[in-house]
Amino acid sequence: MTFLFNSDARRGAVFAEAFAGELPDVPFTIDAATVDPDAVRYLISWTVPDNLARYRNLEILFSIGAGVDQFRLDAVPQNVKVVRMIEEGIARMMQEYVTLAVLALHRNLPAYLAQQRAGQWNDIAQLQARSRRVGVLGLGQLGQAVLDRLKPFGFPLAGWSRSPRRIEGVTCNHGELGLEQMLAASDILVCLLPLTEETRGFLNADLFARLPKGAALVHTGRGPQLDHEALVAALDSGHLSSAMIDVTDPEPLSAGHPFWSHPKIILTPHVASVTQPATAARAVIDNIRRHRAGLDPIGLVDRSRGY
Ligand code: NAP
Ligand code: GLV
Repeated sequence: MTFLFNSDARRGAVFAEAFAGELPDVPFTIDAATVDPDAVRYLISWTVPDNLARYRNLEILFSIGAGVDQFRLDAVPQNVKVVRMIEEGIARMMQEYVTLAVLALHRNLPAYLAQQRAGQWNDIAQLQARSRRVGVLGLGQLGQAVLDRLKPFGFPLAGWSRSPRRIEGVTCNHGELGLEQMLAASDILVCLLPLTEETRGFLNADLFARLPKGAALVHTGRGPQLDHEALVAALDSGHLSSAMIDVTDPEPLSAGHPFWSHPKIILTPHVASVTQPATAARAVIDNIRRHRAGLDPIGLVDRSRGY
C-alpha cells in the first residue's frame, strides 16, 4: 500500500521523513516512473495526473492545497475519496495575509502609497476599527481562522456561508437574504470562498453595487471568482475605495493588465497561504490512520458541492 507524492522534491523530503517515522508500514515514494501502479493506495498531487487510471487500487487522492477546484473531479473514479488539505500552517499564513490586507485597507495604505509616489504629504480622515465593518465570504477552515485573528482589533465582524453557522463574536449570515444583509454592512469584504460553479464570477458589478460606497475588497479565494473589469470600474467610479488582490485569472496577469499599475489596488502573486510540509504531512498521516480505522478523512470533499 504505497503512498505516491506527486509534488516538489523539497516538500517530498519532509513528507518522506514523517512517513518513515510515523507510518513505516506504508512505503513512500516520489518516483512515479518506477512505482508499481497496483501498489499505490494513496496519492497526493496539485492536479489530477493524466495517467490516474493506472492506479487501479487508489483509495484516497489528497490535494496538496486547500482548494480542489484544480482537480477534474469527473476524472476521478467515484470509489476514490478526494481530500483537501486542512493543516495549521495554511491557516496561520492566511490569518497573517488577511490581517495585513484588512489593516492596510483600513489604514488607507493604497492612497498613502500613491501619495508617496506623487511626493504628497496629506493626512486622510481615519475611521476607528469599531466603525469599520468586516464581512467574510466563506466560513470554512480559513474564513473562521481569519475572523478569529481579526477579533482583537475591534472591527465589527460578520461572515456568510451556505449553511447556518454560529461563531462567537461574529454575525453569521447564510442564504441570499443573509448575503444581502452582510454586503450592505461590509466596509471591507474578504472573499474566502472555494471556486465552484456557484461562486465563479461571484465578485461582479452587481455584488459591488450592493456594498456601501467606499467599501474595499480583499480577494484570497480563487481568480475566476473576480470580474476584473467590474472591479476596475467600481474603483474608478469611486464606489469602491481600494482592493488587495492575491488571486487572478489568469495567473500571472498579462503585461499591461490594469491591476499591475492601478493606484487603488495592491496585488500579490497568489502567495497568501502555502501548504507547510511538516504540518501537512502530519495531517495526511492522521487522515490515513482515520481511513484505516474506517473513519472518513478530515477534509473529505463532497463532490456534489464541489468543495
Ligand atoms: P472550506 O473549509 O471548504 O470552506 C468553504 C466555505 O465557503 C464554507 O463556509 C462554505 O459554506 C462556503 N461556501 C461554499 N460555497 C458557497 C456558496 N455557494 N454560498 C455560500 N457559502 C459557500 O474552505 P477553506 O479551507 O476555508 O478554503 C477556502 C478557499 O480558500 C479554498 O477553496 C481556496 O480556493 C482558497 N485558498 C486560497 C489560498 C491563497 O493562497 N490565496 C490559499 C488557500 C486556500 P458551508 O460552511 O455552508 O459549507
Ligand atoms: C492555495 O491556493 C491552496 O489552495 O492551498
